[in-house]
Amino acid sequence: MTYRAVRITGVAQWASQAPTHNSPMPDLSLVIDSYRRCVARADFIDRFYIHLFEASPDIREKFRDTDLEQQRTMIRKAITTIIMQSAGIQAANLSLDRIAATHGKEGMNITPDMYQLWIDTMVRTVRECDSQCDHRVAETWRVVLSQGIGYLSRRGQG
Ligand code: HEM
Repeated sequence: MTYRAVRITGVAQWASQAPTHNSPMPDLSLVIDSYRRCVARADFIDRFYIHLFEASPDIREKFRDTDLEQQRTMIRKAITTIIMQSAGIQAANLSLDRIAATHGKEGMNITPDMYQLWIDTMVRTVRECDSQCDHRVAETWRVVLSQGIGYLSRRGQG
């Protein structure tokens, strides 16, 4: 098992021990297993950004001065954090608060429609990269991402 796989398996273990949670818990194992299959492909994150930039020149413009190599790593970690938050892991909130601050009104000012496009593009890329991604898996991804990114978006407005 690779180091990366161990890290994602770690999330699965946390998820299974998750304490109480306010909103209905999606079946996180579907997303965790699917994410593991996606990141096993070297081109997963690159494909995501290619689609995202094609979908919106405004989004592409935001990344004009960004080191995309470094961004790949950051975004993989951020997706894991969103899954952890869905599992009710409080520590994930802190990490998402930091992202909300850089992306919010006082920072890069990422708008709700950009976030929505991010979610749609991620679900589309997962469908392409995970051969086992059926409708149920894709919809569970959408629920998990919408929870985490809805949180980011709200925290960034304050
Ligand atoms: C369309 C929506 C989004 C846009 C346009 C956007 C834009 C950016 C840009 C331009 C950077 C690089 C900043 C730099 O070069 O220093 C960045 C960094 C980052 N983004 Fe996003 N982002 C979006 C959505 C998200 C989402 C949904 C997440 C979480 C899953 C996320 C997580 C991060 C992280 C962790 C970093 C690196 C640390 C930081 O700058 O806060 N982004 N984003």
